[in-house]
Amino acid sequence: MTKSLLEEVMTVSLRRGILYPTAEIYGGLAGFYDFGPIGTRIRNNLIRLWRTRFVENRDNVFEVSGNTLLPSPVFEASGHLDHFTDPSASCSKGHITRIDQLIEERLKIPAEGKRNDELEAIVREKKLRCPVCGDPLGEVTSFGLMFGTSVGGERRQAFLRPETAQNIFLGFKRVQTAMRAKLPFGVAQIGRSYRNEISPRQSIVRVREFGQMEIEYFVDPDQLDECPLFEELAPIPLNFVTREAQEKAAKQSATDFTSIQISVQEAFEKKYVPNQWMACILGDEVEFFKLLGIPDQAIRFRHMRPEETPHYSGGNFDLEVNLSFGWKEVIGNAYRRDHDLKSHMKGSQKDLSYDLEGAKVIPHVLEPSFGIDRLIYAILEHTYRPQDKTRGWNWFQLPPQLAPYHGVVLPLLNRSELEERATTLYSVCRGQGLDVLYDASGRIGRRYARADEIGIPKAVTIDPQSLEDQTATIRYRDTGDQTRHLISEIPNLLKLQHDFSSFFRLSPKP
Ligand code: GLY
Repeated sequence: MTKSLLEEVMTVSLRRGILYPTAEIYGGLAGFYDFGPIGTRIRNNLIRLWRTRFVENRDNVFEVSGNTLLPSPVFEASGHLDHFTDPSASCSKGHITRIDQLIEERLKIPAEGKRNDELEAIVREKKLRCPVCGDPLGEVTSFGLMFGTSVGGERRQAFLRPETAQNIFLGFKRVQTAMRAKLPFGVAQIGRSYRNEISPRQSIVRVREFGQMEIEYFVDPDQLDECPLFEELAPIPLNFVTREAQEKAAKQSATDFTSIQISVQEAFEKKYVPNQWMACILGDEVEFFKLLGIPDQAIRFRHMRPEETPHYSGGNFDLEVNLSFGWKEVIGNAYRRDHDLKSHMKGSQKDLSYDLEGAKVIPHVLEPSFGIDRLIYAILEHTYRPQDKTRGWNWFQLPPQLAPYHGVVLPLLNRSELEERATTLYSVCRGQGLDVLYDASGRIGRRYARADEIGIPKAVTIDPQSLEDQTATIRYRDTGDQTRHLISEIPNLLKLQHDFSSFFRLSPKP
């Protein structure tokens, strides 16, 4: 049987140390994966690029690093304890099934956001049964997604955060005063979050512990249509799925939605999005994704339907990526209005307002929320090059800035003079801050294959000619072509392409 793309990508990932199940030697724990040495390098590079673009090169964006365990009043105020649930039903053998997903998969109709009684009616009418054992399903109830524990001798109830966002709201006043931040400003956080998914699936696309890169932009509610990046981002095209397109698809029982192409400017001016800030956030993401190796046509923004959106939201727009098993959310973009700061003011009885020339203002919040693990999977799938007949092996065409190493240094033959020259070059590269690998074992073709398989963009080979004229070859991963250069030039040539500037989008100076 041929493998699915998901299985192929996972097979290489397991074999090459990109990722593997957590506690694998004990049978693993569903919905938990560890990144191995190669995956960690790719993950670190992705984080670096995100931080460079969205934090370090932006005026007025401040990064924080909060704890993952938070006391229960936080989640009472945020509403997570009451509302952060998934609809589920058990069969008589005790298998628990997420019902909206079961309906979507079996009946191909949207079900997310429907009430439990509506879902139960569908289950009864369509005679849906337990997907594990085929038994009838019981009542549809709400399954809480929070992982709880108790802290210290006093056993205070606490929960692992389901989003990094909450720390940002809790620390809002501290950050604003310490940094003397003026609206609009952003607070960013990269960290782990936890959701006790009923049925985690699709490797790292739906997991119970995951990485997030989130920014909460705090904006004066009277200036939501004055984003400083608008002029620069206005022409960027967006593939956009309107709510109308989704309604139409549902009426026609279509399995996919039609998207339209609009610019950031049109999205704002024709009110596809609630404000200029949201239009800019979407355009910013398109530009970033292009640099990550995911093509434009594989990205779309879906205006979430009302039943998928919290009551306080002024509009949510998921960035979805076309994967081999369907379009999946990789970024959630939400216009949260003043809900979070207001809820925590009520819950904590502390003043979280902002002093705007003597007037107390509760800033509005726009939130782009990137899922790190999902994004890594999407990159792996879109850069995977299987069945390459010319070279005879499968490989990843990772953008050089994401690749686990800048290059690999290879002595062509098992001869001490060649190895000596190669290890010297390797040390010089390392000394210049380049992240290079040294590989001396096996046939040269096998070593090229090993490098390609983890997406290393350049392989430098020291051969007998190197000893005569101080040159070496560079083999380029994408084409297999080779060029010869003076060894002294190699470190600089490896550095080229790793330039980060294409990932920048500087905020205009105030
Ligand atoms: N903060 C939004 C989310 O985690 O989905």
